[in-house]
Amino acid sequence: MELNKNFKTEIKKEAPLLSDWFEKNARPLPWRESQNPYSIWISEVMLQQTTVTAVIPYYERFTNRFPNVKELARASLEEVYELWAGLGYYSRARNLHKAAQLIHQKKTFPQTYSELLKLTGFGDYTSRAVSSQAFNEAVGVLDGNVIRFLSRRFGLNWPYWKTEFKKNLQSLSDEYAQSAQPRMINQALMEMGATLCTPRSPSCFLCPVQKKCVAYKQDLIETLPLKKPKRDFEIWHWQVQFIEKNGKLGLIENDYAPFLKKQLILPGQIAKKTKPPVQFDFQHGITHHKIYVSVTRSQSNFLKSKNQSIVWIDRKQLKAKAPFALIQKAVAVGLAEKI
Ligand code: ADE
Repeated sequence: MELNKNFKTEIKKEAPLLSDWFEKNARPLPWRESQNPYSIWISEVMLQQTTVTAVIPYYERFTNRFPNVKELARASLEEVYELWAGLGYYSRARNLHKAAQLIHQKKTFPQTYSELLKLTGFGDYTSRAVSSQAFNEAVGVLDGNVIRFLSRRFGLNWPYWKTEFKKNLQSLSDEYAQSAQPRMINQALMEMGATLCTPRSPSCFLCPVQKKCVAYKQDLIETLPLKKPKRDFEIWHWQVQFIEKNGKLGLIENDYAPFLKKQLILPGQIAKKTKPPVQFDFQHGITHHKIYVSVTRSQSNFLKSKNQSIVWIDRKQLKAKAPFALIQKAVAVGLAEKI
């Protein structure tokens, strides 16, 4: 399906309608109370891979403890992890902390998309979301919600996960950002996708652009956007060595497992399999890794023989140093085996 030739004119006309709709219908979310770049940044990072409802209590706790860039920059990574525990994707927390230190050194918060892009953890989406919402820069945002709205509105059966098509969708979003107040229209497009133009049973009767929507007119709501092919799961068998000495646990910096790279994890060995092992203690998923875990209690000289350098972590500090659910579960099994 081709993009209608008049798309620029149509976008110019309807961007203000969408902004008006947003002003009247925006959900009252805590990070919408100000245009502070710090608040917007934290919320946008938390909202990646996590729903609004789940994020709210985390956002409140995090910003109460770290109300600004300076406080976050000065905190220890352990404390940042502690407040992040449960949100998953811990590299986000690590990158937030690193970027806060860089911003704090600069003394001012970078105000443009291209300046923000240089900071650790600021990808294309986050840089656009922050510069448009905090500084009103006319750059469009493209997340899953916006992709769905645009695909339906213009009737596009594009494989949006491919670079070329994503670029075209980005241009459409940029066109909207240049046709109304960027901070309003960007939030409007995201809010539209999150609340009306939902994956299933969208509320087209409430949509301000229903009459213009190609998918609505051609009965393509159910088929657009196309479904991104799911990456196949990989099966891994992780044989973990649980080592405890005087209330401390032996961890190593991960240089052998394909998930939680460079993080503190338990030592052991891992192998890719074609089918699940017959015996294991539990199973845990991280992105496309389906991990079957077997935990064995070992003597501390196990590590010397493997030439791995061990880090001894107090049991009470485990959650702060290695907040990952997989590690917490493996340690629980190791502790239970003692009895
Ligand atoms: N999802 C991520 N960021 C959002 C925002 N600013 N408004 C609505 N939904 C969002």
